Amino acid sequence: MRRLMVTGGAGFIGSNFVRYMLQAHPDYHILVYDKLTYAGRLENLQDVAEIFSDRYTFVRGDICDVALVDSTVEAQDIDTIVNFAAETHVDRSLMEPGSFIQTDVYGTYVLLESARKFGVERYHQVSTDEVYGQVLDGRSTEADHLEPRSPYSASKAAGDLMVLAYQESWGLPVTISRGSNNVGPYQYPEKVVPLFATNAIDEEPLPVYGDGQQMRDYQYVLDHCTGIDTVLHKGVLGEIYNVGTGAEITNMMMTEVVLETLNRPRALILHVADRPGHDRRYALDVSKLRTLGWENQYSCVQAVEKTVRWYADNESWWRPIKSGDTYKSYYAQQYGKRLEDA
Ligand code: NAD
Ligand code: TYD
Repeated sequence: MRRLMVTGGAGFIGSNFVRYMLQAHPDYHILVYDKLTYAGRLENLQDVAEIFSDRYTFVRGDICDVALVDSTVEAQDIDTIVNFAAETHVDRSLMEPGSFIQTDVYGTYVLLESARKFGVERYHQVSTDEVYGQVLDGRSTEADHLEPRSPYSASKAAGDLMVLAYQESWGLPVTISRGSNNVGPYQYPEKVVPLFATNAIDEEPLPVYGDGQQMRDYQYVLDHCTGIDTVLHKGVLGEIYNVGTGAEITNMMMTEVVLETLNRPRALILHVADRPGHDRRYALDVSKLRTLGWENQYSCVQAVEKTVRWYADNESWWRPIKSGDTYKSYYAQQYGKRLEDA
C-alpha cells in the first residue's frame, strides 16, 4: 500500500483521515478525489496541501463519473481506494433521497468496477452503524442483519452489499468498517454536535428532536481514523469491522455537555417536532476491531467536549458557512416551522 485514492477526502472524516494518514505513514502518497458538494471544502485540507505538497494530490470529480474515476485510478497508479464519498445527512435524505441513491449506491458501484478493472490491491468502504437500524437492546455485531430505516442508511446498506458482492463474485480484496456517529473538527454544522455548539455560542435555541432520549455512540473522529488504519493494515479481506466507543449517551446528555462546555444556560434547549422514522438507539459491539489491537482514546463525553472547544476556537471556519445562503435556506427548511411551532 503506497498510493491511496481517498474519495470524499475533502469532507469531515475524510479530511481528518488524510491528515492522519500522511502523518502516520511517511511513505504514502494520497490522492483526494472529491466532488466538493456543500459538505466538501478545500479549506479542510489547506494545511495538508501546504505541509505534504510532495505526497498529496487533489482531483475534483464525481465518483459517478466512470471516465474520470477510471482515468484517475489508472494514470495515478492507485493501489488502494478508501471510499468516504457519500451524501451523509439523514434529514437531507428525507428531503431528497435521489442524490443518496446516486452517490452512495451507484457511485460505490463505479469505484468497485474501477478497482476490479485496474487490479487495485484493496478497496475499503467506509460505512455506518446506521445500516443495522435501531437497536433497542444489546449491541450490533458485524454478523447482524441489516435493517436500515432511512433513505440514507438504506443507501449505505446497499453500498455495503455491493462491496460484498464484488468480493464474492470476483474476489475483489475488500474490507468494510461501520463507524458510529463521529464528532470533531471540520464537521458541517448540519450534524447535531456542531449545530448545537455553534447555536449555543450565538445563544440561539438548540432544537432537540422529540424527547431527546435517543442514544448515539459519539466517537472522536481520530479514533475512527485509527480504526480504519487498523483495518487497512491488519483487517482480514472480506471482513467487516465496527468502529466506535462501544458505549452511548442520550441526546439530552450530549446537549448538556455542549452547554456546560460553553457555559451557556439550559434555557436554550428547545424540544421540537421529531424526525420521521427517528432511530431510537444505535449501539455497537466493537470487540472484533479490538482483537486487532485497536483502542479508542476518547469516551463519548470527552469527544463532545473536545469538539465543542474546537468550534469555540475556530469561528473563522464555520461562520462563513452558517452565514451563507445555502446553509440559511437549508436551516429555514429544516427548522423554520419546527422552531415556530415549538
Ligand atoms: P461529509 O458529508 O462531511 O463528506 C462527504 C464528502 O464526500 C464531501 O467532501 C463531499 O464533497 C464528497 N462527495 C459527496 N458526493 C460525492 C460524489 N458523488 N463524488 C465525489 N465526492 C462526493 O461526510 P462525513 O461525515 O465525512 O462522512 C464520510 C463517510 O463516513 C460517509 O461515507 C459516511 O457515510 C461515513 N460515516 C459517517 C459518520 C458520521 O458520523 N459523520 C459515521 C459513520 C460513517
Ligand atoms: P445527526 O447528527 O443528524 O446524526 P444521525 O442522525 O446520523 O445519528 O443526529 C444525531 C442525533 O441528534 C439523532 O438522534 C438526531 C438528533 N438531532 C436533534 O435532536 N436535533 C437536530 O437538530 C439534529 C440535526 C439531530
